[in-house]
Amino acid sequence: MAKYNIAVIRGDGVGVDVIEEGLRVMRAVAPRHGIEFVFQEFPWGTAYYLEHGRMMPPDALDLLGPFDAIYFGAVGHPDVPDHITLHGLLLPIRRGFDQYVCERPNVLYPGVTTPLRGKNPGEIDLVVVRENTEGEYADVGGFQYQYTEQEVAIQSAVFTRHGCERVIRYAFELARRRGKKRRVTSVTKSNAQRYGMVLWDRAFADVSREYPDISTESLLVDAACMNFIRRPESFDVVVASNLFGDILTDIGAIVTGSMGLAPSGNVNPEGRYPSCFEPVHGSAPDIAGKGIANPLAAILSAGMMLRHLGAEDAASAVQRAVERVLAEGKVLTPDLGGAATTLQVGEAVARLVTSV
Ligand SMILES: NC(=O)c1ccc[n+]([C@@H]2O[C@H](COP(=O)([O-])OP(=O)(O)OC[C@H]3O[C@@H](n4cnc5c(N)ncnc54)[C@H](O)[C@@H]3O)[C@@H](O)[C@H]2O)c1
Repeated sequence: MAKYNIAVIRGDGVGVDVIEEGLRVMRAVAPRHGIEFVFQEFPWGTAYYLEHGRMMPPDALDLLGPFDAIYFGAVGHPDVPDHITLHGLLLPIRRGFDQYVCERPNVLYPGVTTPLRGKNPGEIDLVVVRENTEGEYADVGGFQYQYTEQEVAIQSAVFTRHGCERVIRYAFELARRRGKKRRVTSVTKSNAQRYGMVLWDRAFADVSREYPDISTESLLVDAACMNFIRRPESFDVVVASNLFGDILTDIGAIVTGSMGLAPSGNVNPEGRYPSCFEPVHGSAPDIAGKGIANPLAAILSAGMMLRHLGAEDAASAVQRAVERVLAEGKVLTPDLGGAATTLQVGEAVARLVTSV
């Protein structure tokens, strides 16, 4: 019997509902694969902030540290500025636990309609590896003369040789592991960002020499955005800085059907700290509380967590159950053209996960 201790942070908005369905599916898949889950919930997020003046307690990382993994919903609320919610909860977890890889697959599944013409299921199958601890999201900068007419803001991006090389190396290893197109595309804007991103380009060239079996491509981010729409089927593994990876993965999600289908893992590959698995989407205030958020991104993220923990068979069962629900097309939320609720989709996957 494998026992996994999972910290659960539902966060805000639709995060609360979609995590419920991920937990349902994990509880359903566990017995058949000899898994025992111990889930411990942490009620952190905007409600906690409004009560305590901070998004999570000061010893939050100490509390999370002993867990095998973290299962996270979403953060963000219309009543509190986004920079407070994001910097108070998710970013400290990513940085504090050195989750320097954010792995975000985008697959066009059978049964799902893409807004792009002429792209068939199975054709789009890419993974964005986003640098997750430094780059443009490094917490470096400040204000001077705040709230005056002379107000000045400095926002710095941090690119270290070590930080670039390790995430780029992960991308090459992933391209090998996937064994698909065996191609890594690097995305920067080094024509305009002539320090940090030039360093990234050099690190990419150096690391690529260690992987002669993997082909490479380097794109400026504007061209990459265009090609995510024009020829998404040409990508295999894409490695990008924190900001660019963030933007590209929303495009990747929508061209493969919905924000509600895109999972992600914030990974500390060395396993020194717990990794954190969450849907790519945010708290979606426009549909929060309506019970119609698509839980599949959260469920697929649970599948990624299982794979990360070494429960390969259970992870595959979750993946197959989701694919079956999509292919059957009977129980889908409105973002995928259906009329089902979050709960109904979760229950459909949970029913299938024991028989696929
Ligand atoms: N990782 C995170 O926690 C994260 C990521 C992105 C945004 N945010 C925060 O979320 C809040 C809303 O941001 P946003 O509107 O830019 O992005 P969002 O991802 O929350 O929503 C974008 C669009 O996708 C739709 N959508 C999102 N999740 C869906 C789901 N599961 N099923 C169906 N449709 C779904 C929404 O209805 C909306 O139309 C903000 O406060 C933002 O800061 C948090």
